[in-house]
Amino acid sequence: MYNFGQMIDRSGFSKKWDNRLYPVDEGRPLSPMWIADMDFAVPDCVLDAVRERLEHPTLGYCDLDPRFARSAADWARKRWDAPDVRPEYIGYQNSAMGGVVSALNTLTQPGDPVLVHLPNYTGFTYGIAHAGCRMVGSPLVQNQDGIFRMDWEDMERRITEEHIKCMIFCSPHNPTGRVWTREELERLGALCERHGVSVISDEVWADFVFRPARCLPLATTSDYLRRSTVTVCGASKTFNLSGLHVAYSIVYDNDLRRRYQKKAAESHYNSPNTLSAAALIGAYTGGERYVDELAAYIRKNMEAAHEFISQKIPAVKSYLPEGTYNMWLDFTGTGHSQEENIRLLGQQGLIISPGSDFNAAGWFRVNLATPRVQLEQGLQALKSALKAKS
Ligand SMILES: Cc1ncc(COP(=O)(O)O)c(C=O)c1O
Repeated sequence: MYNFGQMIDRSGFSKKWDNRLYPVDEGRPLSPMWIADMDFAVPDCVLDAVRERLEHPTLGYCDLDPRFARSAADWARKRWDAPDVRPEYIGYQNSAMGGVVSALNTLTQPGDPVLVHLPNYTGFTYGIAHAGCRMVGSPLVQNQDGIFRMDWEDMERRITEEHIKCMIFCSPHNPTGRVWTREELERLGALCERHGVSVISDEVWADFVFRPARCLPLATTSDYLRRSTVTVCGASKTFNLSGLHVAYSIVYDNDLRRRYQKKAAESHYNSPNTLSAAALIGAYTGGERYVDELAAYIRKNMEAAHEFISQKIPAVKSYLPEGTYNMWLDFTGTGHSQEENIRLLGQQGLIISPGSDFNAAGWFRVNLATPRVQLEQGLQALKSALKAKS
């Protein structure tokens, strides 16, 4: 059994622990639960693969080890419902956002509108602006059970009125934790096909899906999507390798893949990183049990957080996510502005991500990938913060 309960002193090695997103009372125990990385140790299968690579004393330009694409394709076949992914569909990306931006550069011209769902992962806001495009947001809508759904009429209206030809889709969805059903993915495919919309499907969270929900790669759900989707995946979230930037793309269509890989290479930022390639091979050849145990641990954290918040912090509404390790919290019932909530949280040493980063002021995202004792400290800090005012 992996020991996810072990606290590791990350200071000096971690943006999450070393940076302050907003001022905090430094006299309080720190609870950094913001940026999406985990406080858990990387498994030995990854560390050993990197160590083994370092046995060779040169680290010059390299070709991508063919095991990279083979192990990524194997992982997609075994762990996701992607039975026919072949190694040649895989392309190295030195970060998921790099892969998203290269896809935008392939599928759009400067000035083009790009559809995203709101709330949206911050990187999409910046990536779209960086590509010189214009973000068009279609708000997700909560049903009576609090589940976020796509608003089909709103999406179709925006696609038609704004002549949208490209969308960025996030599956599982960050920050809401929604895992889309097959029916939803197929309906999205039909909508895109009707209007000739290409999709950049960001699936970096695909390994964090809690049963009975299942994560289906969007591109596998229709022939149209298979031809028109650039999927971006990675081992960074799953194995806590964000500092190594371990990502890749899956593109089924030969022509789209050629155009995309050419664009990705033009930046010169996308040459293989020899250590991250080794890390991915190690992760995908030896890491299945790690991921199973990790997902179970995170699920328990989510249930504990949901129960605590529902019972003890009535001003905040929480929803049990179906995927990711984030929980999307509705703070609108606190009656405070986002700035005031930030001040109260900071006084308790708690750092969580403000909703305005996701185009949803009034909400906060909390990262639950941390040992249980750290989670409990963070939840107590949240409770104290919101008591402080009332
Ligand atoms: C949906 C999504 N895509 C991309 C990224 C960034 O990944 P990378 O650091 O590999 O660019 C994140 C990070 O949180 C994310 O949530």
